[in-house]
Formats: sequence, structure tokens, C-alpha cells
Amino acid sequence: MGTAAYPFVASEATKLSILHAIELRYRHFDTAAVYRLEQPLGEAIRLGPITSRDELFMTSKLRCTDAHHDLVLSALQKTLQNLQFEYLDLSLIHFLACSKPGEYEMGKIPEVPLGSGGQSIPLLGMGTAAYPFVASEATKLSILHAIELGYRHFDTAALYQSEQPLGEAIRLGPITSRDELFITSKLWCTDAHHDLVLPALRKTLQNLQLEYLDLYLIHFPVSSKPGEYVFPFKTEELLPLDIKSVWEAMEECQKLGLTKSIGVSNFSCKKLEKLLAVAKIPPAVNQVEMNPLWQQKKLRQFCREKGIHITAYSPLGAKGTLWGTDKVMECEVLKEIGDARGKTVAQVKYSLTRAQPSKALSEISFNK
Ligand SMILES: NC(=O)c1ccc[n+]([C@@H]2O[C@H](COP(=O)([O-])OP(=O)(O)OC[C@H]3O[C@@H](n4cnc5c(N)ncnc54)[C@H](OP(=O)(O)O)[C@@H]3O)[C@@H](O)[C@H]2O)c1
Repeated sequence: MGTAAYPFVASEATKLSILHAIELRYRHFDTAAVYRLEQPLGEAIRLGPITSRDELFMTSKLRCTDAHHDLVLSALQKTLQNLQFEYLDLSLIHFLACSKPGEYEMGKIPEVPLGSGGQSIPLLGMGTAAYPFVASEATKLSILHAIELGYRHFDTAALYQSEQPLGEAIRLGPITSRDELFITSKLWCTDAHHDLVLPALRKTLQNLQLEYLDLYLIHFPVSSKPGEYVFPFKTEELLPLDIKSVWEAMEECQKLGLTKSIGVSNFSCKKLEKLLAVAKIPPAVNQVEMNPLWQQKKLRQFCREKGIHITAYSPLGAKGTLWGTDKVMECEVLKEIGDARGKTVAQVKYSLTRAQPSKALSEISFNK
């Protein structure tokens, strides 16, 4: 039985398939360091009905990054440790090529450093908002699937009710270290008051069961009467945002280590100018709606000059949502480009983002 399933991630599903194969009497298993499946293979073997190592024929392969004289032995020792075996039946050189020693990162989503806060943000993330906002099993399963596909950047908000399902999916999936993730959440307008910011972030962390966020954003440049999270806004409850005092509380959150970076969402150039005039820690990110039909050229130019990273939300036009349209997905120009290259409109859209001259742009979407 071969064990490679691309993209290469150790998953519970693989372990169960191998276990099933053992029960069906397979005894010859083929794996490789690069598949990241040696560990689930070893676990499945220990769980199954095998009583003696002699019953098995195990093949694994040396990855290109270890195809250097001094690294071969330690690579095989690592493979044996992953499998929890004392020997292999067959050890192969995987390709007639070697590459730079280090972590093998095939399929990894590229990252860019944030100007403020110090860490890097993956250029593609998964949004978790599904309107009407309810915590659902479907959201949890979609996120789990996304983790298995290699997504590590997730966007949530107190408003979306997806913090809890996101936290559960993270604990169920193959993530072994918190450092692998980039988690964004957002302060809802009812909590956009100086004294409510810290308790709101603590509640978010409790929902996620995480010790810190990577990025905490002010969701909208308005406040509203404290109380329940309601969307769409009740206009009669809206209040002007006291940006100085609310931002001070956001800065406090970063200083306490509860979030690595802080930022804003839905801020115009004018609102960012007001914020920059009072900020001790400048915003690392402005998350705004952006797609080929809503390009935000002035805001992009402004943010580039100020070192503020832009994250694009609703990159496909949010078709089917309360706030979206089908103009992007039905765009004739994008369709023509897609038809000429055998790609879908969504694939054309993501290629356009990758082709942006400035790398200071990431995007989040939701599908499922
Ligand atoms: N900061 C803010 O104020 C704010 C506001 C809105 C959104 N967001 C964030 O941005 C995320 C994404 O935004 P969004 O959901 O509004 O917009 P979107 O990603 O532009 O649109 C989502 C819709 O596009 C369709 N879709 C997604 N991937 C597709 C694909 N590969 N092929 C074909 N159709 C595809 C899906 O429709 P079907 O289900 O019909 O297939 C999905 O419902 C949200 O989840 C949220 O995290 C932030």
C-alpha cells in the first residue's frame, strides 16, 4: 500500500486507511520522509493485528534535502523514530537530485513580515464568517479540512461565532505547535470602548482556547452601545469611535502578550491618519474589502507608504452573502482569462493577487 496523499500532511484519515489496509492483510507499506506520513503509518501498525515485525515489508525514502553524505544516517534514524521501528526493509534515494538542507516546504503558503509586531503573515488565509452567524459543526469541519490541506492562517471575529469551532478544529487537526498558526480575531463595535477591549480579547482567547492571537483588529471604525453583538448594526445605537482611548487599550493587549500584533479593519485613509497621529504602536494591518472590481488603489498606496499591510476580505466578491455580489464570479473578463487557460474564475483571481507588484497584500476567503 502506498501512503502518499498530496498535499502531504499527517492526518487521522490516513492512519485509519492504513489500519483498514492492515485488516485487509496488506503487509507491504511504502512511505517517504517527504510524505510526512511515517508517524501515522507507525501508529496504525501498532494499533492493528500485527504480532511480529517480520510480517511486514517497510519501504521509506530519503528526501532531497537529506541527500548529502553526512545527513543520510541521521535522516534514516529520524525515519525509524517516526515509525518507531528498529530497521527498514528497504531504504531508497527518493530522487536523482538533492536540495538545500533544511525543512522541506513543498506547498507551503508564502509569508511576508509585518511592519509592526515582528512576525510573518501567510499570504493566503481562510475566512470563517458564514452569515447568519452561528457556531456550527459545518464550520468546524470546513476548518479541519482546510488545516489538512495546509492552511495555517485563519480569520475569525467575536461577531462571527466561529472562534469556538476554530479552536476545536485546531485541537483536532494535525497542528503540533502553536507557532505553525496565524490566528486573527476582531473586536466588535459594542466592545470598542477603552475598558471593554481587554475583557473582550480575554473572552476571544477563552473561546479559541489559545493563549495569544497573532493579530487583533478593531473590526469597524465605529463603536456602539455596549451589549449584545448584533449585525447588521442598529444605526440608532452607533457612536463615534474614541480612537485614542480604544487604541491605547489595544496597545495594552499587545504589551501583555495576548496578541503579537494589532491592527484595524474597514479603515479609510482619513481614519488611518487620525489613528497614526495618536498611536504609539502603529497598526500592523488594515483588513478591507478588495477584489478586481474594488481595487482600493488610493488606500493601497497610502498603506504601502506607511508600512501597513493590507489583508483583502471578500476577494471573490462575497457571492451569496448579505454584503456581497456575484459581479466578480460572473465577470466576463475573468471568465475569458480562465477559459483561455483552463482555470476557474477563483483561480484566475488568486493568480492576480500573486502577481501584485507589492507583496504587502494577503487575502482571506471562505468556501464550503
Ligand atoms: N473585516 C471585515 O469586516 C470582514 C467582512 C467580510 C468578510 N470578512 C472575512 O473575509 C472572509 C471571506 O469573505 P467572504 O466570505 O465575504 O467572501 P468571498 O471569499 O469573496 O466569497 C465567499 C463565497 O465565494 C464562493 N467561493 C469561495 N471560494 C470559491 C471557489 N474556489 N470557487 C467558487 N466559488 C467560491 C463561495 O460561494 P458558494 O458558497 O456559493 O460556493 C463563498 O460563499 C470571511 O470569511 C471573513 O473572515 C471580513
